[in-house]
Amino acid sequence: MESNQPPDNVLIRPATPKDAEGIAWVHVETWRAAYAGLIPANVLAQLSVEQDAQQIRERITHPPPGSFWWVAEKAGRIVGFASGGPERSGDEIYRGEIYALYVLPTFQRQGIGTRLVLASVQTLIQNGLTSMLIWVLADNHPGRAFYARLGGQPTREQTITLRGISLQEIGYGWEDLTTWLASQRV
Ligand SMILES: CC(C)(COP(=O)(O)OP(=O)(O)OC[C@H]1O[C@@H](n2cnc3c(N)ncnc32)[C@H](O)[C@@H]1OP(=O)(O)O)[C@@H](O)C(=O)NCCC(=O)NCCS
Repeated sequence: MESNQPPDNVLIRPATPKDAEGIAWVHVETWRAAYAGLIPANVLAQLSVEQDAQQIRERITHPPPGSFWWVAEKAGRIVGFASGGPERSGDEIYRGEIYALYVLPTFQRQGIGTRLVLASVQTLIQNGLTSMLIWVLADNHPGRAFYARLGGQPTREQTITLRGISLQEIGYGWEDLTTWLASQRV
């Protein structure tokens, strides 16, 4: 995988196990900001960067086949990340999936999320996965606006249970990533 250096000094590059702590910090901080009001405050308060980092380190060190992690780094600090790989439920249309995508609140709306999606799509295509699904909380309207802007179609629904709470999710799908990527002028 190649890294690419955008003009704003944000480097998009594959993650290494050493990035686990920084990724976990972004994950927890962004969850707390984005999901306040959507997920109960006690659940958000219980999130632990340390525990999260352990799991992420393990997953980066021993990646399941076809899985990937991209990070966005600015001045040596992780400010965003994306992880993905094969679609996890055996969907009949969508073969690839972005499992998680987070950009620190103070770095949002600067194109970093889009760059992470582009890097992820390139990896999926390289791995022979030319369609993609991304799940987003139904009430996460900014997240849904982001995926809609990138051309995703809201085609799937599911209810997940997170620490005993039922949450509705919408799956955004891209059926032809190769054509989509060509249309993005990268
Ligand atoms: C969703 C997220 C990854 C987007 O990353 P980002 O770096 O802010 O996105 P970009 O700057 O590339 O945005 C591209 C376009 O998407 C749309 N968009 C992005 N954030 C938006 C928002 N909050 N509200 C409305 N539209 C939005 C806009 O059209 C934007 O273009 P513009 O800024 O020129 O108007 C980021 O906001 C985030 O981490 N959110 C919290 C967690 C989350 O919702 N993750 C995704 C679901 S799992």
